[in-house]
Order: sequence, then structure tokens, then C-alpha cells
Amino acid sequence: MRDWTGKRYWLVGASEGLGRALAHHMSRAGVDLVLSARNEDRLQDLVAELPGRASYVPIDISDTASVKAAAEEVGEIDGFVFLAGVYWPQSAREWDADQVEAMFDINLTGAARCLGQVVPQFVSRDRGHIVLTGSLSAFRGLPGAIGYSASKAGIMSLAQSMYVDLRDTGVEVQSVNPGFIKTRLTDKNTISMPFIMESDDAAAVMFEHMNTDQFQRSFPWAFSLLFRGSVFLPNWLYVRLFG
Ligand SMILES: NC(=O)c1ccc[n+]([C@@H]2O[C@H](COP(=O)([O-])OP(=O)(O)OC[C@H]3O[C@@H](n4cnc5c(N)ncnc54)[C@H](OP(=O)(O)O)[C@@H]3O)[C@@H](O)[C@H]2O)c1
Repeated sequence: MRDWTGKRYWLVGASEGLGRALAHHMSRAGVDLVLSARNEDRLQDLVAELPGRASYVPIDISDTASVKAAAEEVGEIDGFVFLAGVYWPQSAREWDADQVEAMFDINLTGAARCLGQVVPQFVSRDRGHIVLTGSLSAFRGLPGAIGYSASKAGIMSLAQSMYVDLRDTGVEVQSVNPGFIKTRLTDKNTISMPFIMESDDAAAVMFEHMNTDQFQRSFPWAFSLLFRGSVFLPNWLYVRLFG
């Protein structure tokens, strides 16, 4: 168990869904939170709801100037959790250029924009905790997930590189790969969503992982076996099972 009391964490993507639920778990544990996303009203409500110390700094992570200004306003932090993301279900046969670009720009490049402001600070003082939100869709290119699956594979790869590079330093890197969570993102799905979780339950698993010194957690565990195992399948079998 980590000692959370008095620690200052910056949560990007905190206004809704998983990020909002995680803010509640962290606040109850005594973490001083700085909450970011685009919707100021939702952030303001969240600050009022939380039991502990919290403030908000609006950010649009698709805009480098906004990220730099927000990071400056946030100042020194002990930890950074990246939870922002956008999603539209989409097959390569119905490619929407703007939506696909947005999924890369927010889910992956948006993470890089934020990390660019956070990692050098952590490395220079040899202390810090970074948590990135991936997805079970990251393990192998999923059908009907053009843009999303690839952007999450990028997050998974980025987290792995950072973990290896920083393993002997005071900067800790962790990642989580959730399955389906009931949020406005999955409201867009018409497919069946096995093992779907409430955002509060998913946030509880995420926070539990943040209390360990393990690098990666994919959940729900039973459902994750399908995705983790998929990387070992030959193409013909993968297409048959997932296609
Ligand atoms: N739901 C699932 O089934 C599922 C499964 C696996 C992984 N995930 C991942 O979990 C994370 C949270 O997703 P969620 O399901 O909780 O979705 P959500 O309810 O839509 O929350 C997404 C968050 O990202 C923020 N965001 C989006 N675009 C942004 C931008 N340009 N700048 C700053 N913030 C931005 C949103 O806030 P504003 O709109 O206020 O900016 C919101 O706070 C995402 O990374 C998602 O990919 C979700």
C-alpha cells in the first residue's frame, strides 16, 4: 500500500467516466488532486463533490499551447494519471478521417503532449509516479476499432518503453488495460459487451493496481486472457475468432 496522504496528483481526463470515478477513490485516500479536462462545469462539480482537497485546471490535450499552460499552472506534482480518451466505433470500410485523426491525436499524441511536460520534471528530481490508461483493444488490431485500437497499442508501447527506461530510477511507470466500462464512450457501441463494468468498479481495480509496484494490469482478468492470448494466434485463427 502506498502512502497517499498529502501527495499531489494531476489527473487528465477527470471530468467523466473512469477518471471521475478514480478521482473519488484517490480523494478518499487523502490525495490532493488537480483535475483536468475540457468541460469546466463538470470539473467544478467534481471538485465540490470530492471529500478531500482538489482543484481544477481546464485543458485541451489536442492543443500543445493549452497543455503547456495547464502544466505550468498545475506546478509541482507527485504523480500524473492519464485517462483522457475519445472513441468512435469504426471499420476500415467506413473510415471517417476526422474521427480517426482525433482518436490518434487525443488518445496517443495527447498523452505524449502531457508527458512532455511531466516526465522531464520527474526525471530531473528522480521522483514521480506515472499511470497511463490503455485498453484490452491494444493487444492486437481489433476489427471495428480503426484508430482506437491502434492509438491504445501506441499507449501500451509507450508505457513499456518508459517503464524499461526508468526502471532503475525513482520514477515509477504503470499502465492499466481495462475491458468494457459503462461510460459515454461505450454508449456508442451496438456490439455485445461481455464483462462490462461500472466505472466505479473499474476505478477500484485501477486504484488497487496503483497501490502495487506491478507495471501492468489488464482487467477483468478472465476477459483479458482472450486478448492477451490473441497475440499467440495465427492470423487465420485470429480472424475466425475476432473477425
Ligand atoms: N469505457 C471503456 O469501455 C474503456 C475501456 C478501455 C479503456 N478506456 C479508456 O479509459 C479512459 C477513460 O474513458 P471513459 O470511458 O471514462 O470515457 P469518458 O467518460 O468519455 O471520459 C473521457 C475523459 O477524457 C476527457 N477528454 C476527451 N477529450 C479531451 C481533450 N481533447 N482534452 C482533455 N480531455 C479530454 C473527457 O473530458 P472532456 O470531454 O471534459 O474534455 C473525459 O474526462 C480513456 O482513455 C479510454 O480510452 C475506456
